[in-house]
Amino acid sequence: MSQVTAKFLKDYQSPKFTIENINLDVNLLGAQTRVVATSQVQRLDSAAKVLVLDGESLQLSSVKINGQAVEYIEADGKLSITVDFDQFELEIVTILDPAANTSLEGLYMSDGAYCTQCEAEGFRRITYYLDRPDVLAKFTVRIEADKAQFPYLLSNGNPIDAGELDGGRHFVCWQDPFPKPCYLFALVAGDFDLLEDKFTTRSGRDVKLQVFVDKGNLSKSQHAMASLKKAMEWDESRFGLEYDLDIYMIVAVDFFNMGAMENKGLNVFNTKYVLADKATATDVDYHGIEAVIGHEYFHNWTGNRITCRDWFQLSLKEGLTVFRDQEFSSDMGSRAVNRINAIKVIKNQQFAEDTGPMAHPIRPESVMEMNNFYTVTVYNKGAEVIRMLHTLLGEEGFQAGMRLYVERHDGHAVTCDDFVAAMEDASGVDLALFRRWYSQSGTPIVNVMDSYDANKKRYTLTLKQHTPATAEQAVKQALHIPFSIELLAADGHSLLNKVLDFVENEQEFVFDNIDQKPLVSLLQDFSAPVKLVYNFSIEHLVHLMQFATSEVARWEASVNLFSQTVWQNVAKLAAEQAMVVDPRVVDAFRAVMLATDLDAELVAEILTLPSLSALVEQVDSVDLDALTAARRYVVDTIANECEDELLAKYRQLAQEQTIGARALKNSCLILLTSTAVDIDTLVQQQYQQADNMTDSLAALQAANVGALACRQALLTDFEAQWKDTPLVMDKWFALQACFNNEQVFDAIENLKQHSAFSFENPNRVRSIIGSFAMANLAQFHRVDGRGYQLLTDWLIVLNKVNPQVAARMITPLIQFGKFDQSRQQLIKVQLQRLMDLPDLSKDLYEKVFKALA
Ligand code: TRP
Ligand code: ZN
Repeated sequence: MSQVTAKFLKDYQSPKFTIENINLDVNLLGAQTRVVATSQVQRLDSAAKVLVLDGESLQLSSVKINGQAVEYIEADGKLSITVDFDQFELEIVTILDPAANTSLEGLYMSDGAYCTQCEAEGFRRITYYLDRPDVLAKFTVRIEADKAQFPYLLSNGNPIDAGELDGGRHFVCWQDPFPKPCYLFALVAGDFDLLEDKFTTRSGRDVKLQVFVDKGNLSKSQHAMASLKKAMEWDESRFGLEYDLDIYMIVAVDFFNMGAMENKGLNVFNTKYVLADKATATDVDYHGIEAVIGHEYFHNWTGNRITCRDWFQLSLKEGLTVFRDQEFSSDMGSRAVNRINAIKVIKNQQFAEDTGPMAHPIRPESVMEMNNFYTVTVYNKGAEVIRMLHTLLGEEGFQAGMRLYVERHDGHAVTCDDFVAAMEDASGVDLALFRRWYSQSGTPIVNVMDSYDANKKRYTLTLKQHTPATAEQAVKQALHIPFSIELLAADGHSLLNKVLDFVENEQEFVFDNIDQKPLVSLLQDFSAPVKLVYNFSIEHLVHLMQFATSEVARWEASVNLFSQTVWQNVAKLAAEQAMVVDPRVVDAFRAVMLATDLDAELVAEILTLPSLSALVEQVDSVDLDALTAARRYVVDTIANECEDELLAKYRQLAQEQTIGARALKNSCLILLTSTAVDIDTLVQQQYQQADNMTDSLAALQAANVGALACRQALLTDFEAQWKDTPLVMDKWFALQACFNNEQVFDAIENLKQHSAFSFENPNRVRSIIGSFAMANLAQFHRVDGRGYQLLTDWLIVLNKVNPQVAARMITPLIQFGKFDQSRQQLIKVQLQRLMDLPDLSKDLYEKVFKALA
């Protein structure tokens, strides 16, 4: 695979040719599907004599310029044609076999329907083209297919023509009036159930809304439609942005590499983010649907109307759109709980990416395979960077920046610098230093020290920052960190709430007229994506849990209190001393269980004690076995000491039907698996009485976590009930893959043979091997290496079937730096197995190469 080379941001060159209009004629004929692409090409650089187009896995039939067949060279994913016109018509005919395309990029089949996925570089699997986001063309698309099998023929924009043809065939023509890069092209052909509705924009235009789902799923499409309408309204009221076409379509397909795709006017979604009813979807699923529907809708402005100049700028649209979807969710539901979940993604996943071989800034500087850069860094850290801008500018300044950004760049392909410049110009806030967040990778570490001078009534806070070197970038500089703090009095009242501008390597902040020694709350609401180092006492954390004004800060204090207790016990184990839990720690959690003034969803978050993987991410090196034992001990102690309170809370909430009540009840149930109560009966009762998936799945999870006697019977019952509902079977697969017992290996072997499983369906693959490798730490990291070997066996299969999914699943195998030498050795043996494959995909190659380097 040595021919794989990196591309660099610094080498960006504007296109030498562009395409202003393209007519795409797609004749869907199974393995002989024929695509005629007729493009109006413009030469932008008169010195350019050769037009070079991108293409991959294409069967080329003919190439014509101005109606004349021409000579060309087809090699290494490029089609080169010598041209001596400034303007010409290029016609390219390609033949595709969509059913054979298991990569799910380009044109492929999902459950009998044709569909496309072109981001990032999938359009080149449909035809030879200038497949880069800074080439914007107006698309006219004609689709022809068998009418009985494919009654719906969909593409971007508005339908402009349709008709019947001989032989039971028909066609539909679509025109998209907005110029777009080819990654936003989409085509779908199939038979669906259709839910229709309409939305009237605030300027009074009617938009037809359509959600297409597999036959028989109509009743599961309501929540998606309701979410879409909420998103459209919210983007108008909060951002002043209105929809721009007469029709907005969403198609749900089960074979899909990611969550969803924002193709102009024709979003294609993973069924997971569309289909829901009470019996089959959990509260978390409902929330995910609202968030992803919002996300793709918000891309219409941040991504489609204003797109990226090149793929290094991906965070321009993704960081901003994730920020927008997070704000949408926060305005629709609990702001604190949404923030907590966003913080968890950064701390548990993004920080890990920073310390691994794939570390990169939110605007990467070099890329081998673009699919590998749809990362938590680009998306979620990218959203944190936008959130910091929002904190620095305030809502008004930020919205002024957004208006200027849209005014300047509508219809163009731009850069992250263009975005920051608009924010800066509109607000007058100097963002020169802030720009480093785009170019510097890694997690800054902020050390905090404080002191109080009672005589001067002066409180002093000293902040130091440094960012450790990352795999691809050795030298780091100071960053502009908005650092939010609160000072609390001994009686709990708030003395001061402030965002500090922390811009130096070391900086002192002095607060006068502070009458008493305050207790400080630091980095409130995670005001910057940094690691905090401060020596919190137990009393201090207990005080924050009780009195911090911010609910997020209360949760954060609880995480610190729990984690600190676990790490102290890891040290005890190393010193061969008995483990202990300070009674104040237990009391703090008990107080949360007893509190009557806290939101149930927040309490549920606090009582969902930090996972093993969350704890692993807190340290540079870990003794996994000691950590597992210490965590077990602290969880068991808290649960046992609070058994009565947990049981009372569980019973009190059993009949309440709200999201918060269910979440809290179920986090109590999980904790009760640590206690002596008759949990088996409790779990079976809940499972049998449940009239919703949230409660039945929680019962199963408790049975799984506690390895209860009823576990197998419940799993069998669940399978019988849901064997024909793939998204629910995914939950069943995932549960078994997360079972912390050596039996999990035989179980996974059996699941692979299950009639509901297929290597070609990413949802199924993720539910088994993704859950195992990412959520079953104890078995995945077994000292005998069996876990690593199992994942690698799967990756070897996936490498051929679907390289993009394979490369996503490898993540836990390349983030091995924290583990002991013998585990690292076992992992490297498996990575070498992959490296030695004769046909290793580019996607996996980039990651394996960097991991072994
Ligand atoms: N742009 C999509 C989003 O953020 C994600 C995406 C990128 C994607 N590449 C993809 C989705 C490939 C599916 C397949 O919503
Ligand atoms: Zn997106």
